[in-house]
Amino acid sequence: MSIHVKGLKMQPQVIATTPFEGQRPGTSGLRKKVGVFRQPHYLENFVQAIFDTQTDVAGGTLVVGGDGRYYNREAIQTILRMAAANGVKRALVGRGGILSTPAASCVIRKYRTRGGIILSASHNPGGPDGDFGIKFNIAAGGPAPESVTDAIFARTQTIREYRTLDCPATDLDELGTVRIGDMDVEIIDPVSDYAELMESLFDFNAIHQLFNSGIFRMRFDAMHAVTGPYAKEIIETRLGAAPGTVLNGEALEDFGGGHPDPNLAHAKELVAMTEGPDALDFGAASDGDGDRNMILGKKCFVTPSDSLAVLAANAHLVPGYRAGIRGVARSMPTSQAADRVAEQLGVECFETPTGWKFFGNLLDAGRITLCGEESFGTGSDHVREKDGLWAVLFWLNLLAVRQQSVSEILAEHWRRFGRNFYTRHDYEAVDATAAEGLMDHLRILLPGLAGRQLGEQTVRYADDFAYTDPIDGSRSERQGIRIGFESGARIVFRLSGTGTEGATLRIYLEFFEPDPERHLQDTQEAMQPLILIARELAQIEARTGRSEPDVVT
Ligand code: G6P
Ligand code: ZN
Repeated sequence: MSIHVKGLKMQPQVIATTPFEGQRPGTSGLRKKVGVFRQPHYLENFVQAIFDTQTDVAGGTLVVGGDGRYYNREAIQTILRMAAANGVKRALVGRGGILSTPAASCVIRKYRTRGGIILSASHNPGGPDGDFGIKFNIAAGGPAPESVTDAIFARTQTIREYRTLDCPATDLDELGTVRIGDMDVEIIDPVSDYAELMESLFDFNAIHQLFNSGIFRMRFDAMHAVTGPYAKEIIETRLGAAPGTVLNGEALEDFGGGHPDPNLAHAKELVAMTEGPDALDFGAASDGDGDRNMILGKKCFVTPSDSLAVLAANAHLVPGYRAGIRGVARSMPTSQAADRVAEQLGVECFETPTGWKFFGNLLDAGRITLCGEESFGTGSDHVREKDGLWAVLFWLNLLAVRQQSVSEILAEHWRRFGRNFYTRHDYEAVDATAAEGLMDHLRILLPGLAGRQLGEQTVRYADDFAYTDPIDGSRSERQGIRIGFESGARIVFRLSGTGTEGATLRIYLEFFEPDPERHLQDTQEAMQPLILIARELAQIEARTGRSEPDVVT
């Protein structure tokens, strides 16, 4: 069989292949070095496993886009050919192959498609020696649940062939529709649907007035990643912020050699701009694919855990959430600040495993409106991904309505709810066996910990977190070690599910301070006793050879 289009012969092809080891999607899709993805058949096997297991995608519309990192365009060409050969009827592709992760979720939902394939390794560095990633999002717009990723993985282990089309590359830079094989490829503006959604949620007039007041100075750092074009359109064009408000707004394939992770370690320049005599009033940043956010005020950093709590407490001030929120969810290692807000508001609060996919069912079922994670992710039921710019606009909307600074809003929040001091210590690229050994060592200790005195704290409970999804009853085990103390303090140990080199050990520490007189203490100093307990209990130095964490946020 051959199909004729515009005089071109397009031959469907069935290519023989053999399975690759290790195509199991992690916390957020399959992430590997670019070199791994570039092996012949590697990407193709994974994509075919998606089509083989997600059979309703054929015959419908599929969204395709990515964060623009190195290999994005090549991967999209491969995916489009394979989609056409696998019977997909229509592909919606962001111009230039660009779609931020939240924008992809928005497009999947708005056009009621059968799902999407997102190309990104999120905040991991890009370029020929950097990382690449691929994930499948379901029709609801969110990352595939574990049942789906397990099925895809299982398929990659038995795959024998994949289907593709022998055809020239599609022009990704011209808006409009072209046809490859029997599939329409519609190149869409990657920004407009998303920008429209933001306008429907936030009070753009109020934010515009804040920008026009002449006394408010802000910068948004796009870190040379995907949010550049989104932030320029929304913050500078639609909201009228001065040109130059968006820093590093040009999206580059290697993110300018940077590490597009918006945190205190990787967004140093921006942090510096919010300190010192000439400090900005507001600073914010997003990551490689636009789903993470960091919020800074003048000389102040809002932890993602506090951010979720503040947004929950103030949601009624924002048009999109005026009716109030239904419930809140946070990932297990995220601080319990949001729990206190939920309690006062009289709404449900859920503790889920790390990974945005665990919020999907709760959002779909209307049990929660807002959700967030300590890993710089915040979002709501407007899409099914966390959303960096959304969080920034939410904060701007609050600043405009409350006419207060970020630090005033925070201080007031803590006075009302108490403060959950919080920090995360990361030990990166640790020997994988040593890291597993450390976790096993902790697991062995667990049964004997309750009631024990550690430093000045008494252990109330110690477990390996397991979660039963309240909507579909699915069970996820071994999601991280929790040690809770009588004082309300907590230590959590977890191995990262997103790293691509060795293992990354994360230690999350938190304690509750009701006394406003003590709310301005230095976090690391105040945390010192808990930090010592964590290091001793896990025998970190002896087992990893590390005496200090690589990253403290
Ligand atoms: C990705 C996911 C987040 C998750 C984070 C955890 O960013 O989208 O939902 O919180 O990974 O990363 P980690 O490296 O701690 O597994
Ligand atoms: Zn991301």
